[in-house]
Amino acid sequence: MAEEAPPPYASPELYGLTGGPLGRPPGDERRTETAPTVAGHPVEALVERFGSPLYVLDEAALRGAYRRLIGAFREGWENTFIGASVKTNYLSAVIAILRAEGAYGEVVSGFEYRLCRDLGIPGDQILFNGPWKTDDDLRQAFAEGATVNLDGDDELARVERIAAEIGREVTVGLRINMQVNYPPWDKFGFKLEDGHALDAARLIDKSEHLRLNGLHLHVGTYIPDPGLYGRGMEALIGLATRIERETDARIEQLDIGGGYATRNTLHDTMLPGEAICATPEEYAAAITGPLQRAVGQLSCKPRLFIEPGRILVDEAASMITTVRAVKRMAGAQKAALVDCGVHIMPTAWWYDHEIRPVVDRGAPVEDYRIVGPLCMQIDVLRKSVVLPALREGDLLVIQDVGAYNFSQSMQFIYMRPNYVMAHEGGVDLIRERETDEYVRGPERLPARLENEETAGSFLWGRGERD
Ligand SMILES: Cc1ncc(COP(=O)(O)O)c(C=O)c1O
Repeated sequence: MAEEAPPPYASPELYGLTGGPLGRPPGDERRTETAPTVAGHPVEALVERFGSPLYVLDEAALRGAYRRLIGAFREGWENTFIGASVKTNYLSAVIAILRAEGAYGEVVSGFEYRLCRDLGIPGDQILFNGPWKTDDDLRQAFAEGATVNLDGDDELARVERIAAEIGREVTVGLRINMQVNYPPWDKFGFKLEDGHALDAARLIDKSEHLRLNGLHLHVGTYIPDPGLYGRGMEALIGLATRIERETDARIEQLDIGGGYATRNTLHDTMLPGEAICATPEEYAAAITGPLQRAVGQLSCKPRLFIEPGRILVDEAASMITTVRAVKRMAGAQKAALVDCGVHIMPTAWWYDHEIRPVVDRGAPVEDYRIVGPLCMQIDVLRKSVVLPALREGDLLVIQDVGAYNFSQSMQFIYMRPNYVMAHEGGVDLIRERETDEYVRGPERLPARLENEETAGSFLWGRGERD
């Protein structure tokens, strides 16, 4: 019998398994959805017009988040007001939209206070929190009827002096801290458990110049468990009841702060954020339930304030970025170097942001580390994400970046890019990209360091030098 001919020789193919964090080889089941548009506008057209990287705010999503939240709370407690946390995203266009929807402003500095006033928010619709407020800021807040929540004994004493100077009674609130979560946010306010909060209320009661009318609690940020708010509200109501019994104060407003989580996923968590964070309706039920049950217990039906930040703005904004280089790393993983760094997306240090390709050409998927353009090893936006093979020039969309990215961004190596707001009728530029003049404008070169080269500079020629 004739021997069968061996199959023709084919050289073996060697390739590394580029699995994700669980070590699974990538496969088509791990293809992410594409994001060809943001807020209804083609990504490529946005980049052509406004450049890359680019923050894009979806106006309809922002308005929708506000309406859903206020609707859920008013369902349970009609007398609810939203004090939008200004520091979460203090772009004027963002605050103006929230204001147009009916928001009050929640501020923690004179800068934020003045921003609200400039946007037409009257003083008596501003909640002024924070561990330190300057005397001038306090004077303005009292003159304009803002809610000022006192943060500690020294501030209480200072406010007493300012009120005496003003020569009329001023109304104040007290920020309370308590152990409903671990670790408690005990940098702020008066402690509940050791009687500090009650003592402060008694002190105010004795003051000729101060009147207490509200209690405030903000237990932390990104709190997915609504039960914690329920426990906090019960404790606030308990304290308010005791204060009303023991002093002349009437507690007319209770403020339960912010911290409501979004669908972003924290690093090193088992489940995606979407699976663990509560809905606005669940937060509302947890907070308004204790209020409903306490009707009749307090001297009046208090106004309820909430101070949402991230739940209003996080999911309303995206970052568009461009792949500028693809590299092999020390191991099998590849790096995609993009033009957005952690200086303009600091939340990459807490979250595994969802990253989507704008087009999918059908190439096999690979495991990428997404790194920014800064000359720093720690400039990493995602440690590991599976995407269709990338090449220079590809566009990516990083989702849910509306909270704390712009307001905590910094100029470092690269400047801040354009920020636009997309709506049905078009796209508005709401913050222009920074320039050399913007960044270096405040600098002054001492005259003794000038030379022929610097003399003609657009910067050094002007301003005081002494
Ligand atoms: C007093 C106060 N209120 C509201 C907020 C908003 O928090 P978040 O953006 O988590 O809702 C913060 C932020 O930590 C805060 O300090």
